[in-house]
Amino acid sequence: MLARFSRLESWLATLCLAVVAGAAMGPLSPVVDAQRARTANDAVYTDAQAVRGRALYQQRCAVCHGERLSGGLAPPLSGSAFLGAWGGQSLWDLLSKIRNTMPADDPGKLTPSQSADLVAHLLQVGKFPSGEAELGTDAAGLKAIVLPAQPSIASVASRAPTLPATGNLQQLMAGILFPSSNIIFNVQTNDPSVPAKPGEVGKGAFSWVDWGAGIYSGWDLVDNAAVSVAESAPLLLTPGRRCQNGRPVPIDRPDWIKFTQGLAEAGRAAYKASQTRSQEAVTEATNQLADACLNCHRVYRDKPGGTRADPSNKAARCVPSAGG
Ligand code: HEC
Ligand code: HEC
Repeated sequence: MLARFSRLESWLATLCLAVVAGAAMGPLSPVVDAQRARTANDAVYTDAQAVRGRALYQQRCAVCHGERLSGGLAPPLSGSAFLGAWGGQSLWDLLSKIRNTMPADDPGKLTPSQSADLVAHLLQVGKFPSGEAELGTDAAGLKAIVLPAQPSIASVASRAPTLPATGNLQQLMAGILFPSSNIIFNVQTNDPSVPAKPGEVGKGAFSWVDWGAGIYSGWDLVDNAAVSVAESAPLLLTPGRRCQNGRPVPIDRPDWIKFTQGLAEAGRAAYKASQTRSQEAVTEATNQLADACLNCHRVYRDKPGGTRADPSNKAARCVPSAGG
């Protein structure tokens, strides 16, 4: 086992140090305190700013997102579909998304104040009230303003069919979480902005990083890996799935559920970090990701008391540790 997963294991060993160093810097993206937070309803931009944003939008964005922000080649930037995706997130998240990844065909060139003007235009079209003060560009101020959350989508979820499990838990881990989190961990030492060298594109057909590099950009790969990690968390709760040793995955245990939530949060945090296109931010986010894996593995995977026939004691996996 150690040989097969030595790459991940060594990342995790490296990360033990990084976690300690990271702790002093505080959490990466503190959850906005709902009581103190302002929302986009609190008149956070001016009409003049929205007018500037409108002109820029027509020039740079309308071709994909539609003149009226109702979507086209790209998703709508107003209405319930937009708020369904962005409700609960801060204006900093929105501004960063625009500044770092838009326009999708020529990203990274908007200034902070142009990006803020564009946010103001989005807010005006979204019928959020304007006010006396312009929307600023500083992170702390923008993080404190959230877009209002949408009503829950629980009714949709209850209509969705339950799809049966195809693989066991070990296959799910090795097939989805292992490659995806390795891509994210790779950002610690590889800058995704650096394009692959001509001779290296498409090498190593089974290395996701090399193989994918011919099709998606480095940052797209990291985005997609982080989304895969977050979206795979519910699969750890699929009824009927078994572990490799045949035991049922303990989907009803509160700590198991908590660990899967931790995994989803870590995936979302990694995605958010990746969207800032900052190698440093993703490197910091890998601490949370490594913890999310370790927290569950400590209890449910890494069992002491192996035998010669079963050195890593796989037979004992998927039952809670004594005292754990
Ligand atoms: C070449 C087409 C194109 C242009 C031009 C473009 N976008 Fe986008 N935009 C996309 C696509 C495709 C997506 C969906 C994928 C993604 O989120 O990156 C997107 C997503 C977004 C999102 C997130 C929407 C959501 O529902 O998550 C925002 C906000 C956004 N764009 C703003 C802008 C702004 C502002 C501009 C102009 C500065 C702009 N875009 C220009 C193609 C474009
Ligand atoms: C909710 C609990 C939980 C979380 C979260 C979790 N794992 Fe696992 N993982 C397990 C269990 C249990 C096994 C053993 C599965 C089996 O034997 O069927 C396992 C097995 C694995 C394996 C196979 C190793 C082997 O020896 O068979 C890999 C690789 C792995 N996990 C990677 C990850 C990574 C990477 C993350 C985080 C991104 C992660 N896991 C998050 C519970 C979890």
